Amino acid sequence: MIIKIIAVLISIPLAIVGFKKSNKALASISLLLILAAYGLAEASHKKLISASKEPIAKNDGKELYTAYCTKCHGEDGKAGIMSATDLSLSQLDDAALFEMIKTGKGSMPSFGSQLDEQQVQAVGQYIKALRK
Ligand code: HEC
Repeated sequence: MIIKIIAVLISIPLAIVGFKKSNKALASISLLLILAAYGLAEASHKKLISASKEPIAKNDGKELYTAYCTKCHGEDGKAGIMSATDLSLSQLDDAALFEMIKTGKGSMPSFGSQLDEQQVQAVGQYIKALRK
């Protein structure tokens, strides 16, 4: 960021002097600086865009559970908000559990498009640990 500002600040007087004295070297250095500053701005802009499109890369079951599930199931799985099942009483086997997370049911949203296979497994293992 600071580099960009400095590059632009230096390039403007260089350009003026360069063009006045028709000094081609100075003029082209200033053009290069402006292009470099523009390039840096583009690069950081692209980084921002790709960062926001990145899915959560974490495979931490607890963090995934906190991010996606506590608003209905609560920290301990027992909250029952929007008539969500008490996860501490759940009897589902692994296959049915992972399927439930991926496809949802009734008010239970499907997470198949938000979570990849590993994340489904991670959050599934985490909620199994909430059982008594
Ligand atoms: C919008 C509220 C909501 C969110 C968010 C939510 N659930 Fe649910 N969940 C429900 C509801 C409602 C049910 C009951 C579905 C039914 O059986 O009709 C349920 C049921 C379940 C069941 C089935 C339990 C059983 O024994 O039948 C599992 C497992 C489950 N949720 C896991 C999760 C996980 C893991 C997340 C986060 C990735 C999550 N839920 C997020 C509302 C929610």
